[in-house]
Amino acid sequence: ADPIWEMWMRSPKDFFRPLAVGAPEPVRDVPFRPSRMIHFFDPGNPKMAAKVPAIAPTVDVLLGNLEDAVAADRKEAARAGLVEVAKSVDFGETQLWTRINSLDSPWALDDLLTLVTEIGDRLDVIMVPKVESAADIHYVDRLVAQLEARAGIRRPILVHAILETPAGVANVEEIAGASPRMQGMSLGPADLAASRRMKTTRVGGGHPGYLVRQDPDGERPDAPRAVFQQDLWHYTIARMVDACAAHGILPYYGPFGDIKDTVGCEDQFRNAFLLGCVGAWSLHPVQIGIAKKVFSPAPEDVAWARRVIAAMGDGTGAVMIDGKMQDDATFKQCQVVAELAETLAA
Ligand code: GLV
Ligand code: MG
Repeated sequence: ADPIWEMWMRSPKDFFRPLAVGAPEPVRDVPFRPSRMIHFFDPGNPKMAAKVPAIAPTVDVLLGNLEDAVAADRKEAARAGLVEVAKSVDFGETQLWTRINSLDSPWALDDLLTLVTEIGDRLDVIMVPKVESAADIHYVDRLVAQLEARAGIRRPILVHAILETPAGVANVEEIAGASPRMQGMSLGPADLAASRRMKTTRVGGGHPGYLVRQDPDGERPDAPRAVFQQDLWHYTIARMVDACAAHGILPYYGPFGDIKDTVGCEDQFRNAFLLGCVGAWSLHPVQIGIAKKVFSPAPEDVAWARRVIAAMGDGTGAVMIDGKMQDDATFKQCQVVAELAETLAA
């Protein structure tokens, strides 16, 4: 058996008993599997589906998308296409995820019924969009548990929530701890912007109008003043990272829709990485390499981390390295970087 799942399933009955809202959640660490890029494809598009065998070995996660960007009259075709792809392609080490339709849509029930029944043994994670509270996760948890039991699936399918409504952000902590199935959470900047009535019109990224300008110089009131664009997503990502870390699940930046702006995409991904996210969505093959680069620690950072770890011995006390003070807390930060590098290299 797969040791990761053995560990994760140390209490299999938990998967058949969602926790009540407000119940204390035992913190457990979701088994870490590389998921630097969650690469989206439309399984109802025969051209895209045909490329899956070639793309699968180049990504950590391949996600068959059934929700937004799939037109209402193509929902069934996308669902059927995903079943076909899952049954016919060997994914090797690459994880297979899906994004189902939202729970208030006419398609979510059939998405779950069909996918868990037909390909539940191949699906690693079900991404649920527009999650607003723990109750949404409990609903999915219960239904998936029944369908798994009926289909004889012993490896629990995990659940990933998209944080993309104001209620979801307000309830981010209870969502993160709603079920032992929770694998992680992604920021959904496009829907979040719309539902918050922000004034952006794009998928992720910033806005040149959202800025901070240097105060005027009293001596030279007409002198040019520096302008710094601010990150629209900092607050939400920081909240999401804290909620995920507190519950032992993984946070992700979501989509960046300006495919041509590879520099902006890399910056947005890197901000998320530095704040604690482990991956992002890739919507186009050009974003695969960006995510791989950004969400893998840089060799020089890993070398530095290993140097600090070596110098700190048992990890207690303080040492100076190149004029910088290191102590128990920097030792732990360095362990995060070194362990991520080791896990990704394994
Ligand atoms: C993703 O689903 C988004 O709305 O940004
Ligand atoms: Mg969305």
